[in-house]
Amino acid sequence: MNKKILITGGAGFIGSHVVRLFVNKYPDYQIYNLDKLTYAGNLKNITDIEKKTNYHFLRADIVDAIAINNLFEEYQFDSVIHLAAESHVDRSITNPLDFVMTNVLGTVNLMNAAKDCWKGEMEGKLFYHVSTDEVYGSLHDGGFFLETTPYDPQSPYSASKASSDHFVRAYHNTYKLPIVISNCSNNYGPNQFPEKLIPLFINNIRNNKPLPVYGKGENVRDWLYVVDHARAIDNVYHKGKIGETYNIGGFNEWTNLDLIKVVCKAMDKKLGRLQGESEKLITYVTDRAGHDLRYAIDAHKIMNDLGWQPSLQFEEGIEKTIDWYLNNQQWMDEVTSGTYAKYYDSMYASR
Ligand code: NAD
Ligand code: TYD
Repeated sequence: MNKKILITGGAGFIGSHVVRLFVNKYPDYQIYNLDKLTYAGNLKNITDIEKKTNYHFLRADIVDAIAINNLFEEYQFDSVIHLAAESHVDRSITNPLDFVMTNVLGTVNLMNAAKDCWKGEMEGKLFYHVSTDEVYGSLHDGGFFLETTPYDPQSPYSASKASSDHFVRAYHNTYKLPIVISNCSNNYGPNQFPEKLIPLFINNIRNNKPLPVYGKGENVRDWLYVVDHARAIDNVYHKGKIGETYNIGGFNEWTNLDLIKVVCKAMDKKLGRLQGESEKLITYVTDRAGHDLRYAIDAHKIMNDLGWQPSLQFEEGIEKTIDWYLNNQQWMDEVTSGTYAKYYDSMYASR
C-alpha cells in the first residue's frame, strides 16, 4: 500500500538509520524527512539515499507550529514517526528550556497538525512517538523496566521525554489520535554525534585525549545496535497495536567502565598499539548531576507480540561501530570542527 510517512529527526543518529531502512525497504512509500538540522542533524548521514525518488527532505523546526501546519496541509502525510528531539542529558542540565521547547512543545505541535489534517478520519493513520527508557527513572535494586513501570524521570532530558509521552497518550484518550509509543534503551552504532559516550571515547582514544569517566564508572546501561532499533521501529510501525507501548532493548547491560575497557582493547588492536595503552587514558572526572545508576529494559512484549529480536551480538556490533568511525574520519572531522570545540571545553574543562 502506498503511504506518505513523515519521519522527524531523520538527519540525526537514529533517525538516519530509520529513514534509510524505510526508503530502501518500502519503495512504494513516500518518505518525508523533516529536520531542523541542529548541531546533531547532518545530511551527510544519509547521502546514500538522498537521490531515491521516494525520499524527500523538508527543513523545518517542530517548535514552529505554523510551519508544521502548512507542511501537513501541503503534503497530507498519513503517518508520522517522530524522532526529532534534543537528546543529550548533559546539555539538558545546562539548558533545560531547549528540551521543553523541542521535546514537549514540538511534539504537541506535530500532534495538533496531524489531528487537524486527519479531521477525525483516523482509519489508516498513525502517530508513532519514539521515546526512551530514561522516562522510567533509575533502577537501584535489580529488576527491569516494563511497559507498566511508573514514570519517574530524573533529568531534564528524561522529564521532557516523559512529558511528551504523557501528551501523546492524552491525545489518544481525548481526541482518539491513533498513537503508538516505543521506549528504547541506549543505542550505539555509526553516525552518533560524539558527545555521547561511545563515539566520544573512540575519537578521544584515536587522538590520545583523556577519557572522562563520570564518577566511578559504575553506572549501568543496556546497549542496542542502532540498526536493530530501526528494525524494531519498522515492526512497531507496521504491527504495533494502536494505543500500546513497546519497550525495546538488547538485554545487554554493561557498567560504563567495563564497556570502556572493551572499546579500549579493540582500539589498541586496530591502531596497532600495545595492549593496555588506551586504558591509560581513562580519567575519572566529577560525576554528572543526578546521574541515573542503572537502566535495563524488559523487551519481552515486543519480542513475543511482534516477533522482533536483536540481530547482532554486542561483540560484533561494537567491532562494526569502531570500524565505521575509523573508516569515516572525514565525517568525524567535520562534526567536531566549528562549535564542537567550544562545547567540549565548556562541558569538560571544569570537571
Ligand atoms: P540526535 O540528537 O542524534 O538527533 C536528533 C535529530 O532531531 C537531529 O537531526 C536534529 O537536527 C533534529 N531536531 C532537533 N530539534 C529539532 C527541531 N526543533 N525541529 C526539527 N528537528 C529537530 O538524537 P537520536 O539519538 O537520534 O535520538 C532520536 C530519538 O530517539 C529521540 O527522540 C530520542 O529521545 C530517542 N532515543 C534515543 C536513544 C539514544 O540512545 N540515542 C535511545 C532511546 C530513544
Ligand atoms: P550517554 O552516552 O550520554 O547516554 P545516557 O546518559 O543517555 O545514558 O552516557 C552513557 C553513560 O556514560 C552515562 O552513564 C554517562 C556516562 N558518560 C561518561 O562517563 N563520560 C562521558 O563523557 C559521557 C558523555 C558519558
